[in-house]
Amino acid sequence: MRTVTLDSEDDFDGWRDGVRAAVLDGIPPDRIVWRVGADPGELFGSTPPPPAPAAGFSVPRAFVDLAKKAILHTDRERFALLHTLLVRMRERPSLIDDAADPLVRRIEGLARTVRRDIHKMRAFLRFREMDDEGTPRFVAWFEPEFHIVRANAGFFMDRFAAMHWSILTPEVSIHWDGTVLTEGPGATQADAPDGDPVEQMWHSYYAAIFNPARLKVGAMLKEMPRKYWKNMPETALVPQMIAGAQAREAGMVATAQAKPGGNIDAAWAALREEAMSCTRCSLHEQATQTVFGEGPIDAAMMFVGEQPGDQEDLAGHPFVGPAGQLFDRAMAEAGVERSTVYVTNAVKHFKFEQRGKRRIHAKPDTGEITACRWWIEQERAIVRPKLTVALGATAARSLLGKAVTISRERSRLIDLPGGGAGWITVHPSFLLRLPDPAAKAEEYARFVDDLKTAATHV
Ligand code: URA
Repeated sequence: MRTVTLDSEDDFDGWRDGVRAAVLDGIPPDRIVWRVGADPGELFGSTPPPPAPAAGFSVPRAFVDLAKKAILHTDRERFALLHTLLVRMRERPSLIDDAADPLVRRIEGLARTVRRDIHKMRAFLRFREMDDEGTPRFVAWFEPEFHIVRANAGFFMDRFAAMHWSILTPEVSIHWDGTVLTEGPGATQADAPDGDPVEQMWHSYYAAIFNPARLKVGAMLKEMPRKYWKNMPETALVPQMIAGAQAREAGMVATAQAKPGGNIDAAWAALREEAMSCTRCSLHEQATQTVFGEGPIDAAMMFVGEQPGDQEDLAGHPFVGPAGQLFDRAMAEAGVERSTVYVTNAVKHFKFEQRGKRRIHAKPDTGEITACRWWIEQERAIVRPKLTVALGATAARSLLGKAVTISRERSRLIDLPGGGAGWITVHPSFLLRLPDPAAKAEEYARFVDDLKTAATHV
């Protein structure tokens, strides 16, 4: 057994050196004991840390990024899990992209919750002003869930470069004097000053970091307060900020679209990137990842489904499972090349109920559809399709902003709120679920017809 002692819970460099040495010495993950901080009783008896080997090996950037986040978790197994993943990746470098692999999923899950905690610290930390021997010092108390304080320090150093500040947390405190960052022991809330946060500073700080995509609308008013409310007297500003920030982002998309040959690719890429950390509703909590729209961003037709299914959730691409295969077949029969259209979903996260090992599709509710409309609106603003085709009731509700009866609205041109032409047809899953083969064949033919007719309008 080899013992590797890390300096602290977030000691990524120590972990990296320990793992590098273990891999080069051929020591498997289950032969390593990870220990954090020197144990005084063993200072003289423990195995000295192995010297960092001169030789190394390279690992993909994606792994380093993932490991740097996952290591900040409190899960005691994280060091060994990451070591195991690294060993397995040496055999199969693409393993990290395999979201179905249980180890990758587990580590992704650790990293995801850490990212959320980092964001919470940035969004909900409040400074209060103190007099520090004649110099103002801004002090904030925060209780992170994970070991994120050091990893987040750079953000606050950049944001409040010219000020003297301290962030106190139960595990560690960090202090900035405008030049140097120092560290002290953990603190208690009683060590932090009481009273109003510094309103002026808070306003500009919060407005600068505010990102609507990363917030659950309403979450600050409902869930967050349980832990953060006491620090947030300015919650009343949230609706305004959401509106303002959305307008800013929509403005960015509109500006890009207004310039032919302008930065529309970048606007789409930025939008997709934002969507990857969307927490507008709670579906992100159980889904593997956001499944964003795909296809040419100058497509004449956009197809909107309901939500990613089990396979889409794992693959990260829309319509790749059974419904997607049926969709592909029908499109080909209708003479529409799938690679020429933009395909997306009304809801970007998979909603399901876990039954044993199976994840059973669950219908998104109105709140979830409404929360996700923002993305569809921006995708439509970028792609500007001549025709947007709603596949099924959820897509139609999202595009029209109200419930519609598919049989009544189906297969005719409609005006979409906010502009553009729409077309409604059934969802491919509806066809998959029909038990009677004759009815299935008939409905399938109708679906192909709908697609064919829709394509005549572009
Ligand atoms: N069903 C959908 O609505 N969308 C997908 O991406 C897959 C299945």
